[in-house]
Order: sequence, then C-alpha cells, then structure tokens
Amino acid sequence: METFSLQAKNYQMNDGFRYVEDHLYCEEISVCDLLNSKVSENNITSPVYVYSKRQMETNINEYKTAIKKTGRVIQLNYSVKANMNPAILKIMKDHGLSLTLVSGLELQLALELGFEPNTIVLNGNGKLDWEVDLACRSGVLVNVDSMFNLRQTIRVCQMRGYVAQVLLRINPDINPGVHSYVSTGHHTSKFGIPSEELYDVLEMASASENIRVIGLHCHIGSTIRDAEKFRHSTQTLVDLYRELRDRFPAMNILNLGGGLGIPYKEQIAVPEEIKQRINYECDQCREPEKVKLYQDLLNHRITLRSFFNMLHSYPDGEKLAMKLRQHLPTEVLVSSPEDLVNIVSNILPSDTTAILEPGRSLVGNSAIFLSRVLGTKFTKTKNYIVLDGSMTEVIRPCLYGAYHHIDLAEPNHVNASFQSPFLWDVVGPVCESSDFLGKDRQFVTPNEGCCMAVFDTGAYCSSMSSNYNMRVRPAELLVDGNKVNVIRKCETLENLMHCYGDWNTETS
Ligand SMILES: Cc1ncc(COP(=O)(O)O)c(C=O)c1O
Repeated sequence: METFSLQAKNYQMNDGFRYVEDHLYCEEISVCDLLNSKVSENNITSPVYVYSKRQMETNINEYKTAIKKTGRVIQLNYSVKANMNPAILKIMKDHGLSLTLVSGLELQLALELGFEPNTIVLNGNGKLDWEVDLACRSGVLVNVDSMFNLRQTIRVCQMRGYVAQVLLRINPDINPGVHSYVSTGHHTSKFGIPSEELYDVLEMASASENIRVIGLHCHIGSTIRDAEKFRHSTQTLVDLYRELRDRFPAMNILNLGGGLGIPYKEQIAVPEEIKQRINYECDQCREPEKVKLYQDLLNHRITLRSFFNMLHSYPDGEKLAMKLRQHLPTEVLVSSPEDLVNIVSNILPSDTTAILEPGRSLVGNSAIFLSRVLGTKFTKTKNYIVLDGSMTEVIRPCLYGAYHHIDLAEPNHVNASFQSPFLWDVVGPVCESSDFLGKDRQFVTPNEGCCMAVFDTGAYCSSMSSNYNMRVRPAELLVDGNKVNVIRKCETLENLMHCYGDWNTETS
C-alpha cells in the first residue's frame, strides 16, 4: 500500500517526467495541456500514451556508455516486440542500434526503415516459410529454435539457393525467477533448442550446405531484476561456444538476449528505516552537495533510483548505499544496464561479438498512459475509480498481475469531506472483471474528468493493445523538449471495420 501525502508534488520521476506543483510534466510540457489542445492542434482526447524522447535517449546512453567502458564489441539490438512504433524505431536507428524481431511483418518494417540486414536478428519458435525466406534472402540473422525450425530453414534455403546465417537458440535450462508467462529459458519452456535435440541439430546444421552457423543465442526471460541471472546464461553459451568453435569455424557471435527489468515499483514511499538513516547522515554531513542529495530524497524530490545513482558518485557513497539497500523491498532493487554489461563482458571471450537485445529497459519508463476519471463507485467492500483507459491499452496487470504506478496527473481540488484518502481499485470500462490497472491504491477521491497517469507504459502496452469491446487504440504522442509529435493517430470506426469489406451496405 502506498502512503498518502497532502503536500503538493514537486519531484523528478526520471529524465522524462516530473511533478511541478501537482502538475505532471513530460519534459517541458504539462501532460494535461496535451489534452486541452493548448500545445497540440490535433484534438487529442484521452486516453493517450505520452512518450519522452529524452528518457529513451537516457536509457540508450546508459547501455552505450557501459559498453564503451568495457572496450568490448557488444552490439545493441532493440527488441521491437516491446514497442513497434516507427518513430521509436527511428530513434533507435539514429543512435546506431539494430533490431531483434519476432515476425515477418516486423522484418518488413525494419527493412523499409533501412536497418542494416546483417545486424538484424529474426527470432521465433514458430516461423512461417515466407518469413524464413525473406530473412534468408535479405541476409538477416536467423535464430534457429528447434529441430523442425532447422529442417524448415534448410528446405526453404535449398529451394531458393540461399545460405542462412544462423544463430542456434539454446535452451540453457535456467529459471530466472520471473512470472512463468515471461520465463523462457527453463527446460519446460517452448523456446530454444532443448538439450534432447541439441546433438541432432548440431549434426544436421554442420552437414547442410545451406546453413552457416555464425553464433549462439539464448534469452532466459523478461522482467529480470537481478543481472546476476545473466552470468549463468552467458557462461552456458560461452562454454558451448568453446566446445563448438572447431566444428563451426564461422561462429563468432554470442547473442545474450534481452530481459533486464525496470523498477516498476520505484515510486513507492521511501521506507522508514532509510529515512531515519538518511536523517542521521544529514545531521553528520558537512558537505552541502551531499546534504542536498539527502534532503532531495527525504522531500521526495528525486526517485530512489536517482538517489542511489548519485550516491555512488561519492567515494564513500558505495558503503552507505549497500547499507541502505538492505532496507529496500526486493522488487525495488533492479540491476542497471551497467550491471548487466559488466557481468557479461567479464565472461565473453575476446574473439566474439556479443549482442544484447533489450526491449523493456530501453523504452519501458519512457511513457505514461494518460486517462481521465469517468467516475467513482463505493461498495461495501471495494471502491472503484473508473477511467476511460483500460486493459485494452495496458494489459500487463490483467495478464500477469503486473504492477504499474498510478497517480493523479493534475491537481485535484476536492471539498473537505472527500479529503481523506481511500483505497481504490483503478479500473476501466471494458466489460470484463479482469479489467483493472491497479488494485488497493490510496488516493483522495478524484474528481470526474481528472487526469490520471499510469506510469512505465512504454513497453508491452501499446504493442499488446487490442480492439476488444470495439475500443479504438489511442493516439501516441512523442514529446521532445517543448515539442510534441503525434506518432500514432487514434483509430476510428473506419479503421476497425476496414477488413470487413462492405459491412455498411444493406443486404437484400
Ligand atoms: C528473443 C528475445 N529477445 C529480447 C526480448 C526482449 O525482452 P525485454 O523486453 O524483456 O528486454 C525478448 C522478449 O521477451 C525476446 O523474446
């Protein structure tokens, strides 16, 4: 349960989002102004996704800086399934990233956008012949996922006279300790070549003239909070690489997958034990800069993550950070891209090129989903805030009980009788009891029409959205400083009915 505060919110959430006197800003723009057409002539209505370009760039640079420091060759492939908006793909391209894909249409999009084919990876445990054909014809790297996928690749390539550039996706039998729906590296998973098939796959791959094995791949899951999990999977790939190097002399790529989580729960109130310790440190400290850092945390001006990042820059900060971390709930502790890069780079052989293919950690915290309150409802056991946004736009809570921080995006002026906070389930209008965005959240009663933000919705929200209940998928806006671009228009009835032929002509 989150704690309640009557103070006006004035703090930085990350590089993209901050509160100024209870108004949520994306970069230089108050997000509610986006809906009031003050900054956009496009008549944007709620709900809407709002992305911060700056935050995306911060995430990209975190990876790139960490990679540069290691001096190793590590290629970054953005995993398109997290969010396929072409405007986002263009940002990735401008920053030198390539792509990892999971379907033929994603591949067509990537080629249209001019990504270099021989750095793109096509993944998938069930590919269609035309998808394999397009990938092999274009020189894209194909992750072979099973014996049947290898047979299929050989068949397609034999027919066309291609040689497929293949990465063998290994199932390393590792449990990354995440929700079973996003766990992909355990021996029970449908992904990757199971150990039972590996021998036969290696035999067939080395015997085929149409297959050129250039590397190995594994992806153990998503929302992984502890980068140490990647040590085991990387070591498994490296061991196998050393074993197979002589057999496949062209092999020099180790694709370590994606999967690093983001701290969805980082906005929780600072635990009391940490506050006490920081108060003590504040009293003892004679360095004004550090005192300001402590006060910023105590006054909720910066997030826990920013606090720890800054604390690390002080020579004695590491020790204090270690002590404080003991008081953090485990779900707040998420390894950084730098942790991940450092762990894997220490294991990689110097003669290999590594690929990392993050999705969530590049775009997850770069967006909010903005909705308006349609109304509130009180029952004997539950109170509901009903928003105009729903599970059709943010399905993660309903799909795997995922947590998204939710808060008001503008001041909510309520009369005295409504000022004490209640516990609410935040739900949408979809005709389904699983339609919720958050449970047991504490707010004062929000006014009808008030804007609320669901945070960290840049990954696996828009890309997993649907038209269930004939709901239109909302607009998407990209904020860059004080500029805003509509990077996806809101759908219309015509868009939804497009594939139904003459649906609106009368039948005789
Ligand atoms: C093969 C592969 N690579 C990369 C990713 C990206 O994962 P994440 O968005 O968790 O970084 C996925 C997603 O599950 C995947 O299946």
